[in-house]
Amino acid sequence: MIETVLAGYEADGADLVARFETIEPAGLYAPVAAFIPSAPARMADIGAGTGRDAAWLAGLGHAVVAVEPAAALREAGRALRPDLAWVDDRLPELATLRGQAFDRVLLSGVWQHLDEEARAIAMPALAGLLASGGVLVMSLRHGPGAPSRPVWPVDVEATIALAEGAGLRLVHRVEAASVQAGNQAAGVTWTWVCLEKAPPP
Ligand SMILES: C[S@@+](CC[C@H](N)C(=O)[O-])C[C@H]1O[C@@H](n2cnc3c(N)ncnc32)[C@H](O)[C@@H]1O
Repeated sequence: MIETVLAGYEADGADLVARFETIEPAGLYAPVAAFIPSAPARMADIGAGTGRDAAWLAGLGHAVVAVEPAAALREAGRALRPDLAWVDDRLPELATLRGQAFDRVLLSGVWQHLDEEARAIAMPALAGLLASGGVLVMSLRHGPGAPSRPVWPVDVEATIALAEGAGLRLVHRVEAASVQAGNQAAGVTWTWVCLEKAPPP
């Protein structure tokens, strides 16, 4: 199923690059602005698309890795932002990133592309990338997706329970409208959740 989703992103890449680039990162992340540190932090943006948000965060002084498995998006992003650190890796395992530690792991608009089985593998992998006291910042999509890029329904409570099972605790939850007019018209809404990895006792 991951392959089907990524094939969709490869095929639609040219259109999506233009669409992604119209989004303003500070507005997108406004619901979770309190979880973007002011001091320099280590961050991984998983499913980074064109690297729009990763570049914004790097511009704020953070050390950011842009992780994008769809070559069409990653290579377009690399052309736009050659100075970003680009990594070809994918959920659910994130095998290439394994062993690294980040203060923030960002997952914006990605979770809906994983089915239940993949989510059960992905959540511990994401938690495993967090440094002690680090925070996983995720947006959870509600509503229909494009037929070429399959989505699965997201249950917020089930997602939080999965995160708790992986050693994270909910520190912020907020509902948000879509920032894209087309998605607003299609009835898409979002829930942002911030999940913290507790420091050792
Ligand atoms: C809706 S787009 C969001 C892109 C970007 N975060 C943004 O806000 O513009 C979803 C992204 O998730 C990526 N993606 C899909 N399946 C993935 C997976 N299994 N692992 C990592 N990224 C994935 C896609 O290639 C695409 O870049």
